[in-house]
Amino acid sequence: VVTCVVAAGVVGKRVRNRRKWRRVMGVLKELEEDCGTPVSRLKQVVDAMAVEMHAGLASEGGSKLKMLLTFVDKLPNGSEKGLYYALDLGGTNFRVLRVQLGGRRSGIVKHDVERKPIPEHLMTSTSEDLFDFIATSLKEFSDKEDKDSSLSPPSRRELGFTFSFPVKQISVSSGLLMKWTKGYSIHDMVGNDVSECLHQAMARQRVDMHIAALVNDTVGTLALGHYNDEDTVAAVIIGTGTNACYFERADAIIKSQGVPTSSGGMVVNMEWGNFWSSHLPRTTYDIELDAESPNPNDQGFEKMISGMYLGEIVRRVILRMSQETDVFGPIHDVPLKVRKLVVNICDIVNPSSSSIGRDGSGGVASSRPKGPSSSNRLKRTVVAVEGGLYSNYRMFREYLNDAVAEILGEELAPYVILKDTEDGSGIGAALLAAAYSSPETVDT
Ligand code: GLC
Repeated sequence: VVTCVVAAGVVGKRVRNRRKWRRVMGVLKELEEDCGTPVSRLKQVVDAMAVEMHAGLASEGGSKLKMLLTFVDKLPNGSEKGLYYALDLGGTNFRVLRVQLGGRRSGIVKHDVERKPIPEHLMTSTSEDLFDFIATSLKEFSDKEDKDSSLSPPSRRELGFTFSFPVKQISVSSGLLMKWTKGYSIHDMVGNDVSECLHQAMARQRVDMHIAALVNDTVGTLALGHYNDEDTVAAVIIGTGTNACYFERADAIIKSQGVPTSSGGMVVNMEWGNFWSSHLPRTTYDIELDAESPNPNDQGFEKMISGMYLGEIVRRVILRMSQETDVFGPIHDVPLKVRKLVVNICDIVNPSSSSIGRDGSGGVASSRPKGPSSSNRLKRTVVAVEGGLYSNYRMFREYLNDAVAEILGEELAPYVILKDTEDGSGIGAALLAAAYSSPETVDT
């Protein structure tokens, strides 16, 4: 009797175990199916993005894609000379840079960077607190650099400021914050001039610098991309958040009537994080994540693809599995099979995000409404890419490269090159500060 009871117990345990794994695999299969994005569907998303791009260029508020004017009508070309500073306020990190430019002959002679995580409480505090932190960091950096360096500081210090949020530019060096994204929420700041906030904080901290350029991180990345390779016409960020910009012909930017450009074109900041299309493969996890976020129905594309949200999607899948079964068990003794399951979940969430990402990159490359350099001949088109998710996650990069090639097709794909552009947003801001400060700072 005793052996029968023991045997029945063992068999029962095995059956329960098998049932549990069947349920877990069911959840995994469902996730895989919901994330599935055949090329035909991706092409629908690309077409939808092209339509929205045109609508956003036609009128203010014409699309969820803001297609913001940047007032950047020329990109650095290698002639820039001198010592420039840059600040780069992104999602998670903050950088201060000093870049020594040597003109056409020497290029970027030297650049020093200091990186700091942004203290979390400052993301929801007051604009004064955030900008005092920025100005203090800039002061400490420049004081230290002046002491350690053999380079004598210029009489007027020019600064490029990368501010990676949607800004309605008033000029190349000033603009109003339209809204916060990526978890920031400082109410007193919305609608205010970003450069003015920095200017006042620098005055409080006794930092004497001139803000020559206020740019989005995509624009900084495009500037460095173009400095290194003049076929670079677009830039994409895939990091904490996601966005893209590209150089557009002035007559295609219908809403810009009256804004002068020296080159017949201007860089447009798409703010594609806010893109939305019913063709996007949205899972129940994406829907719940959005509903419970501080900004529901906002930045829909960004929430499906960028680094700030991918981990949260994985957590939600694991949570659902652990609510339906006890497969995860105690945290300190997780069997190999379960660890493999977590890798599987991450892998499904990853290609889904990058296949959506490819909609964007493919979309910009193939539907870019005729930049100034385009002609009927196929031309080499370089897209500068920056962001932690792209540069640190090899699988993501590989999927993205393959997928862009697939979406563009055999004829176009060889002409479109994605280039990793490390520190582009910061160095690019210094390059733009050089391009937009006094004319004697460039080689002729
Ligand atoms: C968010 C911001 C955008 C930025 C992107 C990448 O989408 O709104 O301005 O470029 O994140 O950092």
